[in-house]
Amino acid sequence: MAILEIRNLSKNYGKGENQVKALKHIEFQINQGEFVALLGTSGSGKSTLLNIIGGLDTAAKGEIKIQGKNIAKLKAKELAIFRRRNIGFVFQNYSLMPVLNVYDNVALPVSFDRGRHIDHAYIKQLLQDLKIWDKRTKYPSELSGGQQQRVAIARALANKPSLILADEPTGNLDSKTTNDVISLLKTSGKQYNQTILMVTHNEIIAQSCDRIIRIEDGFLLENGKDGGFYA
Ligand SMILES: Nc1ncnc2c1ncn2[C@@H]1O[C@H](COP(=O)(O)OP(=O)(O)OP(=O)(O)O)[C@@H](O)[C@H]1O
Ligand SMILES: [Mg+2]
Repeated sequence: MAILEIRNLSKNYGKGENQVKALKHIEFQINQGEFVALLGTSGSGKSTLLNIIGGLDTAAKGEIKIQGKNIAKLKAKELAIFRRRNIGFVFQNYSLMPVLNVYDNVALPVSFDRGRHIDHAYIKQLLQDLKIWDKRTKYPSELSGGQQQRVAIARALANKPSLILADEPTGNLDSKTTNDVISLLKTSGKQYNQTILMVTHNEIIAQSCDRIIRIEDGFLLENGKDGGFYA
């Protein structure tokens, strides 16, 4: 079943001479439980695409359906709730809250939902798996880039979202930690039947995913595993 459907998606930044066509008629679908790698050179439109799917930015044209819901039709408040309950986002720049410690940053998306209980054991497990449990009372400014990145990954997984959008989640990690993080994402994906769309520059990691989507200059170039297109 397609959990994510993108139809004829276009996005421009700016106007007139300065206009940048960041996405051009992008179309693809992702099925529930798939782990998809999003590849493309710097400036090709990867973050733009993730931000629009995650409801953080709006498209100029086209349609995005998540679990059959057209997200452009949701009111701001509905979108915020939908996003919090269903989407885990790992930002390229981490976007941690500087005034909260590691544990509270990770628990934040859950604690926003009044009445939802914070699964302490699960958060502890995530922080242990990501080897930052000993940093739980530290603040983001006291962490290295790679540690902050792992906090951002834990935060995205804390809610057990059905869709995980990860913008270069291993960009700042050494190869051993990168492999650990990819394994964690794969295990989590299998255990909770999560769909993952992950930006990476690493071709080897991309080849280990279920499918590769490649964009270049705002165009979809590849949608499949073998360099071809996927029906
Ligand atoms: N807020 C913005 N205003 C104007 N132009 C923007 C904005 N955000 C992105 N762009 C432009 O849109 C294009 C796509 O940018 P995007 O950030 O999506 O690339 P990317 O593939 O994520 O690159 P990277 O690998 O470097 O993160 C680029 O030409 C960029 O300069
Ligand atoms: Mg980017």
